[in-house]
Amino acid sequence: MKYKIKIVLLLLLILMVLFMRNISNYSNTSSNIIYVIKDEYTRLGYTQYDLDMLESFLDENQMKEIIKLNIPRNILFSYHKQKSFEFDKIMLYEDVRTNKKVTFKEAINLVNHPYLMSDFYESIRSAINLNTELILVNKNYYLKKDYIPENLILGDDLHPLIPNDKSRNYLQKEAYNALKALFIEAENNNIILYFSNGYRTYEKQDKIYSEYLSQSHNADVYSARPGHSEHQTGLAVDITCQSVNYLLTENFEKTAAGKFIKENAHHFGFIERYPKNKEYITGYTYEPWHLRYVGKKAASIIYLSNITLEEYLIKYTNMPN
Ligand code: DAL
Ligand code: ZN
Repeated sequence: MKYKIKIVLLLLLILMVLFMRNISNYSNTSSNIIYVIKDEYTRLGYTQYDLDMLESFLDENQMKEIIKLNIPRNILFSYHKQKSFEFDKIMLYEDVRTNKKVTFKEAINLVNHPYLMSDFYESIRSAINLNTELILVNKNYYLKKDYIPENLILGDDLHPLIPNDKSRNYLQKEAYNALKALFIEAENNNIILYFSNGYRTYEKQDKIYSEYLSQSHNADVYSARPGHSEHQTGLAVDITCQSVNYLLTENFEKTAAGKFIKENAHHFGFIERYPKNKEYITGYTYEPWHLRYVGKKAASIIYLSNITLEEYLIKYTNMPN
């Protein structure tokens, strides 16, 4: 009996030793793993504080991806500052940023909006920045048939070309006020401007586009398709003057009125929306008469940098995904 107890005790001892060895092996390996991973994060510039912070918005896999994809701290944090940043798109952003030599903000916007200024009418999606002065409507960004802007005001006191025409004399309130101020400033300089078109319904644009189609094989460079006209936003306005017989013509740029508009519209929050030599971005031939209200800040930057609204949105704003 004594002998049996001794054997059992010995066996128990052996088991205990084995168990202890296992535990200590396990904890060594585990701390090695943590140590190696931590080392990797440190190599990429992350502190413990960064890691704690990152864990609050990245899941476990995404945390591991930082190491797998070799993403340095300064790169990740430069993206993280941007509102529309999505971790899973980071390599796409990096491709664009390094190939096109653009900023972090631009890279995100370009990834989210690859067809903003190309492949006209081939990659169509809903207009963005709806109901703001930076609303984007162009050949790939459209407004629904029933979209009617808020705050429309009849601009019958703005030298309308055709008084009382409700199908062309409405504007959004901000654009109306800005246009009124622009007209007064023009008059102070002995220039009389005329208000030719403001807000247009989807249906009216449909008619206009059909007319262009029946007269020209190149309708798309002159007229927007229904749903794609900025006039439907209530923030676009066509201006003319007596010396071009109140027409909407390229010659407007040579008139005193056209020159005044070119140099001063931005002070009132308007931009020339379809400039010369930017046809490859806008898809339209030069329209010196077509202004778009975007607010004073954007208008000044666009004017001073000689860029289009599309370029402004990419370079300076957090575009929605
Ligand atoms: N002419 C401009 C592009 C329009 O139709 O809205
Ligand atoms: Zn127009």
